[in-house]
Amino acid sequence: MQQNPYDQIPYPSAPLPRTHPWKLGGIALLNGYTPPARARILDIGCGAGRNLIWIAATMPDAELCLGVDLAATAIADAQAFAVKAGVTNVRFEVRDLATVEGEFDIIIASGLYSWIADKRGLLQCIHRLLSPDGVAYVSFHEEDRPWRAELLEHRDPSRIPDLADLDPGLVYHDAMAEISDPVSLEEFVEALPADLAYVCDARMPPEETFHEAVLIRSGRGADADPRDLYWVTQESFPATVQLAEAPEEVLDFWSAPRAIVRTAGERPIAWEPARRLAAAGDSEIMNYYGAMVELDAEDAALLASLDGARAIRNEAIEFFAQAGLLVG
Ligand SMILES: C[S@@+](CC[C@H](N)C(=O)[O-])C[C@H]1O[C@@H](n2cnc3c(N)ncnc32)[C@H](O)[C@@H]1O
Repeated sequence: MQQNPYDQIPYPSAPLPRTHPWKLGGIALLNGYTPPARARILDIGCGAGRNLIWIAATMPDAELCLGVDLAATAIADAQAFAVKAGVTNVRFEVRDLATVEGEFDIIIASGLYSWIADKRGLLQCIHRLLSPDGVAYVSFHEEDRPWRAELLEHRDPSRIPDLADLDPGLVYHDAMAEISDPVSLEEFVEALPADLAYVCDARMPPEETFHEAVLIRSGRGADADPRDLYWVTQESFPATVQLAEAPEEVLDFWSAPRAIVRTAGERPIAWEPARRLAAAGDSEIMNYYGAMVELDAEDAALLASLDGARAIRNEAIEFFAQAGLLVG
């Protein structure tokens, strides 16, 4: 049996704030569609699962968070990380996307469409599994890198200055990918099954050559007039939005209570996944906003100790609060 290349060289895994259900639901809302009422979330080709683990950690009431991937090593890594972070409402399976069963309100397919042969199969899978009021995210690129031909001919990344300092997983799976098809937005929309519609890109304004398509069921019809979207923060989480018709009005997408605090309380409490990761000795700690925060051993030990039992206030605690690592 041929080994999956993602089992040979791991692909780096990280939270992807633009795929968060609150953000995708917010984009649907701004376009006039009521966001999904339930939260059954599927991450197709989830790799080592950091994105879905982060999503599950921020949505403890989500009914289902399922990540599937063909690469057994990536799935084992995801499962181990979820245990380490104490995130229990997430499940990972070694599985081909074609064999997933069920109904999902949010479907995420990041880093697949341009990079797999069976693009139609991916869209059919989303079409088959998306709930009537569901929202899907599919990323793809419009243009291949100009240096790809040279790289594929010589198979020597050191000849390409753009690749210096890049993670070997990104060099191998992205830069040197066998399949890396440029797809225009028009071609993508044309390929959609009849019942799926492209709403907009998840990034506003969209990147010129990289798309993050937000899809809904075309048959459902909008519930309201689209709000005239003016501006969405790029990487920030939660996403904030300003409306062109009322630029002074800034909307948050929150539907769930926001547990995180920006000012430390007298008896600080660390966000549980971050506390557990720090206790396990990690130096890169996932925060509530889906960013990785670098901590030295002393700060990591302090964060690990913050269970609300003792009164403590110092510069490190203020930093934790600013860095999205403390709850109220
Ligand atoms: C470029 S990685 C993207 C990982 C992650 N979604 C991200 O954006 O960081 C693509 C992943 O899709 C998985 N994959 C490719 N084809 C698949 C299929 N047919 N079914 C399930 N997973 C698949 C690969 O094993 C790999 O882990």
